Amino acid sequence: MRVDVGMQKGGVGKTTTSINLAGALADRGHDVLAVDADPQGGLTLKLGYRDQYREGEYALYDVLSDIGELTLNDLGELVVHGNEFDIVPSHIRNFRLEKHLYSEARGVEALKLALDRHDGNYDYVIIDSPPNLGPLADGALLAAENVLFPSHANTIAKDSLEILFDEIDTLEAKFEDVNVSTVGAVLNEVGRDGVSAEMEEWFIDTFSEEYVFQIPDWAAVEHAIEYRTSVFAYNPDDAGYSWDMDKTEALRDKYNEIAAHVEDLS
Ligand SMILES: Nc1ncnc2c1ncn2[C@@H]1O[C@H](COP(=O)(O)OP(=O)(O)O)[C@@H](O)[C@H]1O
Ligand SMILES: [Mg+2]
Repeated sequence: MRVDVGMQKGGVGKTTTSINLAGALADRGHDVLAVDADPQGGLTLKLGYRDQYREGEYALYDVLSDIGELTLNDLGELVVHGNEFDIVPSHIRNFRLEKHLYSEARGVEALKLALDRHDGNYDYVIIDSPPNLGPLADGALLAAENVLFPSHANTIAKDSLEILFDEIDTLEAKFEDVNVSTVGAVLNEVGRDGVSAEMEEWFIDTFSEEYVFQIPDWAAVEHAIEYRTSVFAYNPDDAGYSWDMDKTEALRDKYNEIAAHVEDLS
């Protein structure tokens, strides 16, 4: 099963959700691939693959665009084996990818085709999407056909979601055999000032209770990422934040809930 973690907005927790959902699924014994489809490379950089991002020989650019050195058959060339799960890292060159995907006949379908042709035998592929609408974000929706929406519970979340729902409708109209299913919404940084209880209710009304997941605003989330892992491989003692242990355990429970829900849907 593939899951796109998508929202055309920066800072809502896409990368955090991608890393921790991939970490949860891996911790539960699954073979997992995380694809960093954001040219800004948040997931890649946060997990410590700066050299790949800056200087790696090949990039999604080469696999997905017609002009690159590789073809849609070569996604495997990009895969790096992380401690917790495999990764298709992003690359600085991917900033130039979108304009090619716009003009190429099968540009939006390229990621789907590349994943279909990559015989990686993964149980789950998690795609961390870019913070804008465009062919990379569309490509991730099309490739996964399942989407998890990370969001803050604030007043503009509703507009952001409506825009994304419209985009999904447009894609489904254009590609007749494509049907994008909702995996749920992840409300990030719950408890931070300015977060509205009303919006939490709106999410529950819109998605139903068992499809809304709430992640508290805790530094342990960020400390794990500073440690270059999900909360599952995070060792607070080793990182110098021994007081994080209880919150780390609680966060593991939260991300396990999302992972169990994903397993149920697959
Ligand atoms: N539950 C949380 N508690 C505290 N900080 C969080 C939480 N979720 C995300 N963050 C922080 O918020 C910032 C944006 O998150 P990120 O996952 O990079 O968003 P996006 O990928 O959508 O741009 C990061 O600095 C991240 O560490
Ligand atoms: Mg990101």
